[in-house]
Amino acid sequence: MTAAMSGRSRMLDVGYRTVLRPALFRTAGGDAERVHERTLRMIARLGGHPAALRVVGGLVGRPADGVTVAGIRFPGPVGLAAGMDKNGIGVQAWGALGFSHAELGTVTARPQPGNPRPRLFRLRDSRAIINRMGFNNDGAQALADRLDTAGVRRGNNAVGIPVGISIGKTKSTPLAEATADYLSSLRLLAPRADYVAVNVSSPNTPGLRSLQDKAALAELLGALTAEARLLAAADPAGPVPIFVKIAPDLTETALDEVLTVCHDSGIQGLIATNTTLSRDGLAPSDRMLGHESGGLSGAPLTVRARTVVRHLTSQTTLPVIGVGGILTAADGQAMLDAGASLLQVYTGYIFRGPALTSELNQLTVNQKEIVR
Ligand SMILES: Cc1cc2nc3c(=O)[nH]c(=O)nc-3n(C[C@H](O)[C@H](O)[C@H](O)COP(=O)(O)O)c2cc1C
Repeated sequence: MTAAMSGRSRMLDVGYRTVLRPALFRTAGGDAERVHERTLRMIARLGGHPAALRVVGGLVGRPADGVTVAGIRFPGPVGLAAGMDKNGIGVQAWGALGFSHAELGTVTARPQPGNPRPRLFRLRDSRAIINRMGFNNDGAQALADRLDTAGVRRGNNAVGIPVGISIGKTKSTPLAEATADYLSSLRLLAPRADYVAVNVSSPNTPGLRSLQDKAALAELLGALTAEARLLAAADPAGPVPIFVKIAPDLTETALDEVLTVCHDSGIQGLIATNTTLSRDGLAPSDRMLGHESGGLSGAPLTVRARTVVRHLTSQTTLPVIGVGGILTAADGQAMLDAGASLLQVYTGYIFRGPALTSELNQLTVNQKEIVR
């Protein structure tokens, strides 16, 4: 617990740490993915009960401060990172749980099962997760249908917070045809998203990260921004903002190349970072699990993600959403100090629960409105 914790955050922290988390981590025989599925179903059910949402919202509390980024008004500093709610089943609940936006997905143009299980591992002593999910998802059309049922359209604030949608490449689509795959998802989802995140940084789809290379990225982002402009021809709000999510394992030179391409193609912002292939920073008791393949997230990523964000924000005026290893208010503050305009969390939320969003919501965000 941090000294800065409010009474509300302390109550949520103790409740989650001593009651809810032990109970959750024990269910489903301790199988991390089944625990995730069960919890997500509970959150989805909660979303269907406005009275229950109000009670939960009252417990978690409201953010102190909102911020406008890329023309989108976010009611608080911390959003749900991509991958937690790939198919958008909990879209109605995330606002009440204290998030200022929810990045749904990553979805792909066609539905796919992802990698064989087991593919999700909790490293408790390291406060970390290794995953090699491989974009298991119901596909872009299913997400579009679900958002229609929930009444979510771009800019209509139907669930009280902005909805971002992360898109990736279908595994069976050859890399050479990646652009068409992303375009197909963009066409379906742009009218339903407050922003679209282009995921070129998951380590779990073979070859995906090579789309961060200069030429491939320029082709992909050029096509997506052109298509977003076409889709918005009759929309007074203009094209849907497109953000690019990048890996923490890029060198400074590679980061600078990504920035050049992002500037040239008219992208509105960056999300940094995705999971890492590094295994630095694991507790000795987690070294065996560290041999599992996949991306590592959580505490071992904190410093690297912040370093990437600091480098990016020193080189660009594009807004950067900081994500990676935020487990405390101090981590969140350090990410904002590194220049992030907004925060996202995944692993921290698994280990800390609603106490984390409650704490982060007390932070003061960088108020400069940054638009290209
Ligand atoms: C189980 C799991 C699944 C994830 N799936 C996605 C995904 O589909 N798309 C994506 O962009 N990032 C995905 N991520 C990465 C997170 O969004 C985030 O960038 C990363 O975990 C670092 O943040 P954290 O340390 O707060 O978890 C996933 C992470 C985890 C742990």
